[in-house]
Amino acid sequence: MKAKSHWLVLWVVLLTGIVTLRAAELPYRDASLPIDQRVEDLLNRMTLDEKIGQMTLIEKNSITPADITRHFIGGLLSGGGGYPTPNTAENWAAMVDGFQARALETRLAIPLIYGADGVHGHNNLYGATIFPHNIGLGATRNPELVRAICAATAEEMMATGVYWNYAPMIAVPQDIRWGRTYEGYSEATAIVSALGSSCVKGMQGDTVQVLATPKHYLGDGATAWGSSAYEDYQIDQGVAMVDEITLREIHLPPYKAALDAGAMSIMITFSGWGETKVSSNQYLITNLLKGELGFQGFTVSDWGAIDQISPDYAEAVVSAINAGIDMNMVPYDAERFIATMQAAVADGRIPLGRIDDAVRRILRVKFMMGLFERPFSQPDLLETVGSAENRALARQAVAQSLVLLRNEAEALPLAKSVPTLFVAGVAADDIGIQSGGWTIEWQGKEGAITPGTTLLEGIEATVSAETTVIYDRLGRFRNARDSAGNLLNAEVGIVVVGERPYAEGRGDAADLSLSEPDRSLIERVRQRVDTLIVIVISGRPLIISEQLPLAEAWVAAWLPGSEGQGVADVLFGDQPFVGRLPYTWPRSMDQLPFDFATLAPDEPLFPFGYGLAGDS
Ligand code: BGC
Ligand code: BGC
Repeated sequence: MKAKSHWLVLWVVLLTGIVTLRAAELPYRDASLPIDQRVEDLLNRMTLDEKIGQMTLIEKNSITPADITRHFIGGLLSGGGGYPTPNTAENWAAMVDGFQARALETRLAIPLIYGADGVHGHNNLYGATIFPHNIGLGATRNPELVRAICAATAEEMMATGVYWNYAPMIAVPQDIRWGRTYEGYSEATAIVSALGSSCVKGMQGDTVQVLATPKHYLGDGATAWGSSAYEDYQIDQGVAMVDEITLREIHLPPYKAALDAGAMSIMITFSGWGETKVSSNQYLITNLLKGELGFQGFTVSDWGAIDQISPDYAEAVVSAINAGIDMNMVPYDAERFIATMQAAVADGRIPLGRIDDAVRRILRVKFMMGLFERPFSQPDLLETVGSAENRALARQAVAQSLVLLRNEAEALPLAKSVPTLFVAGVAADDIGIQSGGWTIEWQGKEGAITPGTTLLEGIEATVSAETTVIYDRLGRFRNARDSAGNLLNAEVGIVVVGERPYAEGRGDAADLSLSEPDRSLIERVRQRVDTLIVIVISGRPLIISEQLPLAEAWVAAWLPGSEGQGVADVLFGDQPFVGRLPYTWPRSMDQLPFDFATLAPDEPLFPFGYGLAGDS
């Protein structure tokens, strides 16, 4: 394996040398010229096939290396779970560099741009730092923290040559039954604007080191239950049933903020508004985003979203391109897309001017990013992947994201010297569960899927040397007995309950009640401890009204990611509770979706912005 990748590197170096020699004298290759001049010079040299190639974004396993060259492919991506085998940073870098070398073999040697969803760290990569999902960052209300997290994510991505990140997700989710609620920072527009724009700044740095892609424009957070026509999805990919004023007041401001922060690529939502899919909505994409908001970068369609515009594929492609889609995430069928584009340009249904506009936008961004000068991965950054420094940042973020919902009798913070501590619940000792969806796999996965510290490990590392910690997944603690064989109780019990990993579509849920096993777990442990703490690991508020009185303290920990130590830091008082609810917490399912315009403060179980300080 080692020897093989050395050969690849050597080959890539040789090839870059040849390409540089051949094209070095052309103006577009001259980094000292203004970007617009370079764009025009290059555009004028391109054939129609080369232009269409630039507009084509393909899933990495759905094209042969030779076809990358043959079709002048402009972009490749890893979808959720799109890792190479073995899933190491070195192997990612070799994979992406290998594809890049194929793009550089083309006549004009235009580098491709490689994308992935780094929505909470470089999360498809085994061993990357996994940060809390955005819902937890929304609880921190801390733009500087978000900026640092997105910069650290960018660093880990650059190490592997992935210079394009499909993040931040800046939806303003209005219905927590949506399975993408946790990808959103908050139900409140102002918080999404502040944190989303900070993320763009952190990820891109001063030089667009990694291209951020705020998504999904526009109104994905407004889609209504039951409006999705896709598979068995309910909300995801559905229809935003709101008027234009609402769209502009609630869902648009985060995009304005992201553009002000320098966003140069925007992903268009799968969902619809009114009668049409947004992917074919010229008013929203061309008039509003590119015209009114002055967006100079390029738009990218979502995964196969074009296919949903119309059963007639040619019609779908024509309306998407004419609506203003520049880069097309096709993602499996390069040949079909390219052939359809060629025919549509030939018979005038797509004007050449539209093609040139799209390609100009894509090239502008590639030049801005310095991809022509630096197309390959950055091996000197490999040591940042899952580094102690990035993990420390994630641990800090976890601590700040916790929201203290209830704290009777000053149960929290706990004394580290507690003699006996019971810990229960499968989620207490499972990296996969605490990381949620978009972690190694698209929908996430339970188990030891990537290195990190579980909540249990964090607790064990924090308590005094004299403390006995007993973990029992099912909370029976049958082995905790005195010499006479009687069951022993503990001073403190910590029960971890909540949701199992899910992502888009499959996470749409009609019922957010605590599961039956979780409810009985709480009741069972309650019998055996003096003080009970419940920690909720979930991608959104769950219905806990009936169980609430059973425990002295309740903590919402969201989906903290790989650094579970951050939870223990706060439980035992090394860090304060500072998190505040980014979403309104319902009492019962029949309150959903909330009508925020008429909601009285005492109607929900906990209002938006609620969060106790541990010392009160
Ligand atoms: C999701 C996007 C994601 C894309 C690529 C889509 O299904 O909606 O958020 O960026 O896949 O993985
Ligand atoms: C991919 C995801 C993508 C999804 C869309 C999955 O197979 O891994 O990245 O978002 O399909 O349906």
